Amino acid sequence: MAHSEASTPVSPLFRWFPEGWKDHELIDSGAGSKLERFGEIVLIRPEPKAIWDRGMNAAEWRRIAAAEFVPTGRTKGHWEPHQSVPDKWEVRYPLTPECNLHFSLEMTRFKHVGLFPEQAANWRWVLPNLGPGKRVLNLFAYTGGASLAARSTGADVTHVDAIKQVVTWTRINMELSGIEGIRWCVEDAMRFVERELRRKNQYDLIIMDPPAWGLGPRGEKWKLEDQVGHLIRSTSGLVASGGSVIMNTYSGLSPSSLENFWRASLPGASVQAGELCLKSGTGQVLPTGSLLRVTRN
Ligand SMILES: C[S@@+](CC[C@H](N)C(=O)[O-])C[C@H]1O[C@@H](n2cnc3c(N)ncnc32)[C@H](O)[C@@H]1O
Repeated sequence: MAHSEASTPVSPLFRWFPEGWKDHELIDSGAGSKLERFGEIVLIRPEPKAIWDRGMNAAEWRRIAAAEFVPTGRTKGHWEPHQSVPDKWEVRYPLTPECNLHFSLEMTRFKHVGLFPEQAANWRWVLPNLGPGKRVLNLFAYTGGASLAARSTGADVTHVDAIKQVVTWTRINMELSGIEGIRWCVEDAMRFVERELRRKNQYDLIIMDPPAWGLGPRGEKWKLEDQVGHLIRSTSGLVASGGSVIMNTYSGLSPSSLENFWRASLPGASVQAGELCLKSGTGQVLPTGSLLRVTRN
């Protein structure tokens, strides 16, 4: 006999795009790369998901780009400048009429610049349900765009990342943004979650963006495909009644796979699953990662 869940209609997948950027633009993508503007600086970076043809020609990309990231291994490489580029520069995101988020950027040897601009779709989404007295946990939090957005509402925000320098970078972004009072934890995300479960702490919003692999500060190994189930099961125990989870991953795990884990861990929750995307000036939709928004009823 069919189980009642089996006859429940399956919801369509979503596509989310960030809105409101002036200091970021995906100019074009294709041929395994993307051409983006961060403030005044135009960069070329590898983008394995951009398997289509470029909208503009390669010579035009090189003409307008200030620098290009050339990979030399699976995760590392170096930047080749085409023009002079500052060591550090700043971009701003207009979160609300009263609050601009400021980000200090630099070209790292991991091809990142300290900002995932597509995440702005989540920064605005969290605002209506947060405020003083609400508790927010940001796991695998990097340079903290979501932590800044959440804290701007007056919510209590705990920011967890394994790398001390990344947490220092977020603190700089917080100060540049005129925000204060985020609680920092340089800690292995899984270890932090397990401790919070023992303490019976709960959160109104949990944000997490686990990478494909990583290391905790004490060498704790993180491998998404082996540990994602454990992470979701454990974290679901920290979600307060009526609370939400934003789970993102750039690792290639599909939104439907993540949805199955969440539906099993929080039965009855409302789940929206889909892709977080950027639209290029030449019209392509670049899927950056899988995104889930889960609300416990
Ligand atoms: C993809 S980034 C997150 C980007 C973030 N969503 C944003 O918008 O800025 C993944 C982060 O996970 C951190 N990380 C990797 N392994 C970790 C672990 N075991 N515990 C905690 N953080 C970890 C990395 O230092 C990195 O900052």
